[in-house]
Amino acid sequence: MLIRKAPDLTYADITPRSVYLDRRKFLRAMGLVGATAAAGKGLFDLAWPPETALAATQFSGLIKSPFSTTEKQNTLNDVSHYNNFYEFGSEKSDPAKNAQNFKTSPWTVSVEGEVKTARKFTVDEILKLAPLEERIYRHRCVERWSIVVPWIGFSLSVLLKLVEPTPKARYVAFQTFYDPRQMPEAKYGGIDFPYVEGLRLDEAMNPLALLCVGMYGETLPPQDGAPVRMVIPWKYGYKSIKSMVKIRFQEKEPPTTWNRYSSSEYGFYSNVNPNVDHPRWSQAKERRLGEIFTRNTVIFNGYGDQVASMYNGMDLKKFH
Ligand code: MTE
Repeated sequence: MLIRKAPDLTYADITPRSVYLDRRKFLRAMGLVGATAAAGKGLFDLAWPPETALAATQFSGLIKSPFSTTEKQNTLNDVSHYNNFYEFGSEKSDPAKNAQNFKTSPWTVSVEGEVKTARKFTVDEILKLAPLEERIYRHRCVERWSIVVPWIGFSLSVLLKLVEPTPKARYVAFQTFYDPRQMPEAKYGGIDFPYVEGLRLDEAMNPLALLCVGMYGETLPPQDGAPVRMVIPWKYGYKSIKSMVKIRFQEKEPPTTWNRYSSSEYGFYSNVNPNVDHPRWSQAKERRLGEIFTRNTVIFNGYGDQVASMYNGMDLKKFH
């Protein structure tokens, strides 16, 4: 099986898992999968070499991150079939159905604003910026479900440092790709698009803030934010913006999608905090996907040692 090391991998080489799975469906429909089993490898190879398609979805040589939790991981199936991605519908099962044909290549991320060297990065360029790590993070949604996911990527700070922020840069704004033709369900979502998010500069530079290009050893499925997204493990899930196309350094606090929608319910900071209720529900407990019983939510989602000092002296009720 051909597996190339991540730095040699070209994003154009990567076959999305969905495409690969669809090919298998197609082959099965043609009776080719069964025929291959009977005839050995040859026929299948002729039809569509499965090794190449499968191998191309995988990363190898991933570094194990010291930031990883040892808690039990959710399955890829769970994590890719219970999603929030309002561009593709507002039901948890919608993105898995509606994002399958989302065109995620070619793709560039523009890094601009208060920087010395504004730059556009292709996904290939991003993949080469740093060794890819597997980081197993807890991820807590404001709707009280949580998951444990082996994400792939590296600290966002690697990319941010490259463009040399000016002294005026105090915040970092993020923006998702938006195309109503590819995302016709977005108009029923009730929120404005493009989806936008933001962090204070020190939060964005915190090593835990992950620039994420994959999960479970593979490239991201479209419904999980392909080809590149953020994962901010100490904040509610909505801060972890998907399918990013723009990162902008600025002096002023940027607007954020859910805060615009309802500022009393969704603050700019959105740190996981069992002591600050959402106006319509308590945040004291959460349910891990696939489990029956709830568990206690932990402040900063359990990442307090690495992040709490950034909020010293702040009233976390006011700055929720
Ligand atoms: N990013 C975009 N562009 N659009 C969205 O609707 N939803 C957010 C966040 N990022 C969202 C988004 C919310 S509410 C959550 S909980 C997480 O994505 C969910 O990530 P997951 O589906 O990979 O678990």
